[in-house]
Amino acid sequence: MDFHHVGVAVHSIEETAKWYVNKGYDMTETFNDPIQKVYIAFLKRSDSPLLELVQPADKISPVSNILKKSGVSAYHFCYETDNLQETIEDMEKQDFKVLIEPVPAVAFNNRKISFLYNIDIGLIELLEK
Ligand code: NI
Repeated sequence: MDFHHVGVAVHSIEETAKWYVNKGYDMTETFNDPIQKVYIAFLKRSDSPLLELVQPADKISPVSNILKKSGVSAYHFCYETDNLQETIEDMEKQDFKVLIEPVPAVAFNNRKISFLYNIDIGLIELLEK
């Protein structure tokens, strides 16, 4: 699995991105993902892991709960994998539970993503290569 990005829950992509852009990060366009009910934009800088800002599109988005509990916070790491299904089965053997079954993601050209949770590791996103 190759590391891909850190996911950060934010109230407002615009408000959060200002600080990073001021620090030399390049920002992508903002994507609307109707399946996850979120807006997403990425921040890139050569010495930094890729940052994914995730803003809830409505109040029942799971990201809304993260914001309520923890405020703006990093809440998942994402890894790329050649074989999504195989990696999921592997991780299930390592006590991860699938929270979101593979679904296409607009922010990744409709490559599939999946979210898994392990109590000692937290939330991991997998992205199909
Ligand atoms: Ni992500």
